[in-house]
Amino acid sequence: MSRLLVRPGETFRGEVTISGAKNSALKLMAASVLAEGRYVLRNVPDIADVGIMGRLLEAMGMSVRRREDAALEIVRGPALVAEAPYELVERMRASTAVLGPLLSAVGEARVALPGGDDFGSRPIDMHLASLEALGATFELSHGMIEGRAGRLVGCEVVLEYPSVGATENLLMAGATAQGTTTVRNAAREPEISDLAAFLNRMGARVLGAGSPTIVIEGVDELRAVEHTVVPDRVEAATFLAALATAGGEVTLRGARADHLDLLIEKMGRMGLRISPEADGIWAMASGRPRPVDVATLPYPGIATDFLPMLVAVMCLADGTSYATENVFAGRFRYVGELARMGAQIRVEGHHLVVDGSARLSGAPVRAVDIRAGAAMVIAALAADGETTIHDAGHIDRGYERFVDKLQGLGADVTRLD
Ligand code: UD1
Repeated sequence: MSRLLVRPGETFRGEVTISGAKNSALKLMAASVLAEGRYVLRNVPDIADVGIMGRLLEAMGMSVRRREDAALEIVRGPALVAEAPYELVERMRASTAVLGPLLSAVGEARVALPGGDDFGSRPIDMHLASLEALGATFELSHGMIEGRAGRLVGCEVVLEYPSVGATENLLMAGATAQGTTTVRNAAREPEISDLAAFLNRMGARVLGAGSPTIVIEGVDELRAVEHTVVPDRVEAATFLAALATAGGEVTLRGARADHLDLLIEKMGRMGLRISPEADGIWAMASGRPRPVDVATLPYPGIATDFLPMLVAVMCLADGTSYATENVFAGRFRYVGELARMGAQIRVEGHHLVVDGSARLSGAPVRAVDIRAGAAMVIAALAADGETTIHDAGHIDRGYERFVDKLQGLGADVTRLD
């Protein structure tokens, strides 16, 4: 298993280019199941999860290759194997994004039911209920969800919670359904708007993405297209949090400040100076961070994916911070790892009480998931001595050239194996 070695280094200086969003790229890849032809996706991050989604598309009979100009080319021929096997779903839950496209494109789908993961149990009941509302039927057999559908028929679906994954499956299934699908209480994340833009380019009629009500007027046919993936707001947030513990000055080239409004406001309260620029975000940090209260919520709230990184910064704040996780129950496994570095964190239900320390102490720790891994690096940048981060492969699932990018800013981070 790969490990990272982090030592406290220089303060940050320079520029880092923000990659395309993992959480959008994976869904655009899944959406390419919808129509035959050749797709070109630009700004797709070169990360392990994109590799897994590529393998899934290949297992379904499509071809996926990284071109010399770094764009991802996907070719979908006439035949499809409508199955997402356990080996791939178990490694990456986002594989369930092919459910809606498969039902729409070929009228059947066999997708392994994802089990629990480091976020606790993550059911897909809302995905299934909303696809059922469009006319699909599901059975669970030997750990596989087996779905069938004739041509899907649009209707009004009210989501019980603005689930990102369920909204995406509905968008992709509704695109070629007969009639109009209206999604109420839809997720509003920028990645949803990116998927809607991609589908519209393919010939779909999706209106209102980015708002709580999305209307999809079904069309008879879609076509393969080219598209550029939206910048990764989670990666941008990660570098802002890293700046908060390392200190210094950075420009996040390509980052979209308008996708990070509340985070920028919170990090400003923590002491960062942040200014949106024409093609990115400039930020500067000096001195100890100030304590804040943060609660995660669906977009435009503070993303659950930002919280581990913000908690790492809170560990070094000049006072007590409060963090509340509202999106995923059980997403606190990283707290025990931060405690190994001397962090003072009390878990109370879905709240954390974080007493900031002037310094953390480097220790061997584990990356329990992608964002938790990034949080370990952020804490380690301001810890005395060396921190070895085990299971760093988790970080590679979601961050493109993370070590190179940090080194480019002056951080002392190396890969051990
Ligand atoms: C996506 C992101 C993930 C991010 C999350 C919330 C990808 C690949 N992953 O995950 O990084 O943290 O959005 O912004 O894009 N739920 C149900 N039943 C369902 C679906 C969801 O109970 O059928 C619950 C989940 O357990 C969770 C909440 O709804 O408590 C939010 O989940 P959801 O928005 O669906 O997140 P994902 O799409 O899985």
